[in-house]
Amino acid sequence: MGTQTSHHPESLKEAISLEGKTAIVTGGAMGIGRAIAQRLHEAGANVVVSDPNSVRDELVSQFIDARAESALATDTDVSDGDAVEAMVANTVKAFGAVDILINNAGIYPSMPMLEMDPDQFRRVVEINLTGIFLCTQAASREMVERGRGGRIVNITSIDALHPSMVGLSHYDASKHGAWGFTKSVALELAPHGIRVNAIAPGGVSTPGVSGMDAAMIAEFESMIPLGRMGDPDEIAMAALFLASDMSTYMTGSQMVVDGGRLLH
Ligand SMILES: NC(=O)c1ccc[n+]([C@@H]2O[C@H](COP(=O)([O-])OP(=O)(O)OC[C@H]3O[C@@H](n4cnc5c(N)ncnc54)[C@H](O)[C@@H]3O)[C@@H](O)[C@H]2O)c1
Repeated sequence: MGTQTSHHPESLKEAISLEGKTAIVTGGAMGIGRAIAQRLHEAGANVVVSDPNSVRDELVSQFIDARAESALATDTDVSDGDAVEAMVANTVKAFGAVDILINNAGIYPSMPMLEMDPDQFRRVVEINLTGIFLCTQAASREMVERGRGGRIVNITSIDALHPSMVGLSHYDASKHGAWGFTKSVALELAPHGIRVNAIAPGGVSTPGVSGMDAAMIAEFESMIPLGRMGDPDEIAMAALFLASDMSTYMTGSQMVVDGGRLLH
């Protein structure tokens, strides 16, 4: 059955190592994306930190201090198709391939649906959902052409499964879409040895969340069974698992990492 041969790493060290691999992390300058970029780099990958925020440059210089020529910064807005094509082309030029794509870039401005301007709805969908499509298409075309498989990890949300608060209708629509996209694309790319999975974080302390209404966050936090918000690195550990040979039999799956929040 099937066309893929299984790969069994000899040791745990080998399974978790990303040496010789190249990863793109969208929205990699801050928050969850930054933590993921750090762990993938620590695991040995070349990392492309892709983010319009110039803070990315400081992270990339840290990476290059630690291991020469192992990182690249791009200012890519994931909703801009031409910029996404350039991001992938520059990655291949610098490192020869794209093996791992982490679709992390996302925004979550809170607003009641009744007051929402259509452009506000479109912007969230363009970044959180169309952006995932554009990056996945560009990176997976490259992976297919190179013929050595790949791993794609989409950072969705518990809101991909269930709304966490009022005011996120555009966000919830985009994240439910991202989960549907993950499953469909996992099916399409499986024959090419490309695994596509998602991580659904609950509440994680990031610069984006610290800009939200404090009362809303306090209410959210009071409903987390583990009693606290998550740390970005707790999402990064799951991303490393899905991006490495720790998860060779997983595709089309969504890992919920939420301190138990969805149990309510
Ligand atoms: N923090 C949470 O509680 C939480 C929970 C569930 C899901 N998520 C998801 O995790 C992802 C990261 O969230 P975060 O909390 O770290 O956010 P954040 O706002 O702290 O950081 C997001 C990063 O993405 C970048 N970005 C924004 N728009 C972009 C674009 N168009 N193209 C490329 N990069 C862009 C920003 O510059 C920033 O560096 C998002 O997809 C978010 O929906 C976060």
